[in-house]
Amino acid sequence: MYRNNMTRKEIERRFAERRPEDEKLLRTLRNCDRRHFLRTSLRFAGMAAAASLVPHQSFQLVNVAHAAIPGASPDQAFRFAYISDTHLYDRGLDHRFVTSVLKAVEDVNALDPQPDFVLFGGDLAQLGRPGELELGRQLLGEVRAPLRMIVGEHDWYLDLGEKWREFFGPDYYSFDHKGIHFVALNSVVEKDFWTEKGYTPEERMAIVAGLDDNRQSPFEVGAEQRDWLQKDLAQVERKTPIIVFSHSPLYKLYKPWNFWTDDADEVQALLRPFKTVTVIHGHTHQLLTNRIRNIQFHGLLSTAWPWPYAPEGLPEYTVQMFRADPFNALDGCGDGAVDVLPNGRVDKHYNLWARNPRTVTAKQLAKRRPPEGGGHQGPSY
Ligand SMILES: [Fe+2]
Ligand SMILES: [Fe+2]
Repeated sequence: MYRNNMTRKEIERRFAERRPEDEKLLRTLRNCDRRHFLRTSLRFAGMAAAASLVPHQSFQLVNVAHAAIPGASPDQAFRFAYISDTHLYDRGLDHRFVTSVLKAVEDVNALDPQPDFVLFGGDLAQLGRPGELELGRQLLGEVRAPLRMIVGEHDWYLDLGEKWREFFGPDYYSFDHKGIHFVALNSVVEKDFWTEKGYTPEERMAIVAGLDDNRQSPFEVGAEQRDWLQKDLAQVERKTPIIVFSHSPLYKLYKPWNFWTDDADEVQALLRPFKTVTVIHGHTHQLLTNRIRNIQFHGLLSTAWPWPYAPEGLPEYTVQMFRADPFNALDGCGDGAVDVLPNGRVDKHYNLWARNPRTVTAKQLAKRRPPEGGGHQGPSY
């Protein structure tokens, strides 16, 4: 339905043809500055989406946009929602990845009650360009709940985080919320592979964006942040539940795709004294669950595309996501929510846009052995 680089007039005409009753909003669109134009067109696109003008092709049983999340935990202490891995290009408002962000924003804004905050899991941009980050900032600016941001490698390696930090603040930080200690890490630090080879910032970014381009070095949290983390955690009682946000999984799954954090063992060791630890990460664009000793790990869905599973297999607690339908651009994509329980563990909801929603519960992960076939409780389609 959409094509790249439509002009403002073309967008107006397209909407006008389909929604003549929205003339009033169109009139507003005509004489506004860029910022206002974006805000107005976002509202417009949301309305178009609601009227099924944007094909969601969703056949899930319950529409999360107008209901509490299916499988929501009755004893949740609080909930936060998430959007992740939007990979926005600098190509204008009509790119399909933009439409996906609009859908995600619509989903989280429709949650009733509203989540305490919305986590963005990193990879806002595709090539770290200022225009991409700016577009992402404006789109996410429509989220009603407070935002918590995590940086991804696609946001970072053009200017080494300069623009991202200007927009969103420090790339690692901690905060306390309703009895939980939250820690956000920048887990996509790479050793300098560019200076000696004389790579330009654009070449550096392209190499990192290549995922399996082995000219880069593996992701790590790095000594500076591990030092900071040690000091941060020294202030926290051992019985306080910890939830860590990272972009890459804080364990070693598959190095060639950086489904991997090189100093994961050291980071896990810092978290080991705590009874209840959960890591929520982006980057892998799929249903992914793991448990290592006291730590439970949950991956986030992407709004842009699903990655296939790493060829070396899945952590045993993972509820397997089936191969996405290549003819449906939204299949395998989505957003979701995390219910934090009174004991500090979490139930994780995957709101798959073209499949049935799935929930992975703390109870399932507490079992000594995962159910046969992984954490499955029925198919995820
Ligand atoms: Fe990503
Ligand atoms: Fe990533």
